[in-house]
Amino acid sequence: MSPVIKVHDRFFEPFILSDAIEKRVKQMAAEISATYEDKNPLFLAVLNGAFILAADLLREINFQSEISFVKISSYEGTQSTENIKELIGFTENLRGRHVIIVEDIIDTGLSMQHILKQVNSHSPASIKIATLLLKREALQYPIEADYIGFDIEQKFVLGYGLDYDGLGRNLRHIFVEKRP
Ligand code: IMP
Ligand code: MG
Repeated sequence: MSPVIKVHDRFFEPFILSDAIEKRVKQMAAEISATYEDKNPLFLAVLNGAFILAADLLREINFQSEISFVKISSYEGTQSTENIKELIGFTENLRGRHVIIVEDIIDTGLSMQHILKQVNSHSPASIKIATLLLKREALQYPIEADYIGFDIEQKFVLGYGLDYDGLGRNLRHIFVEKRP
């Protein structure tokens, strides 16, 4: 088991180990396969956090499918409360496509709400959400994820794509903040 690590000013301990993640990602891929095998779905992975999940998940998918990447850019408005988010990187024509959004984590659900709104405006045939982590108790928006890796408590985590101020995305395991 990996030891406690320090990232910037905070301490983290192992939380979900890579073996468990790998097993769960395979199960998620199997669930997705059962529904999408003959639909040529378009996986839409949300950068930066979902890059590792997308790579692992897609390699477990053994049917015709496509993948594309989008990113949320935040613009701080004139008021501090104003925070307009735009989805960048759309190149695919989503009309009539079966879209599966791939995210690393859903916390309050605000980001996913923005993503859904914008994906919806491109008239896809269907939209589903696959997220590795869900902080169900932190949800403030009516988001229903269809494929969930792990439902976790409201604690800060990093690793397997998730960062703390830019660091930790490359960690193989998911770590959780250690509180004294
Ligand atoms: P939401 O919009 O509140 O659902 O937050 C989603 C985004 O916040 C994620 O895509 C992450 O970038 C970030 N986030 C939320 N919780 C964590 C965490 O525990 N660790 C790292 N990033 C997080
Ligand atoms: Mg993210």
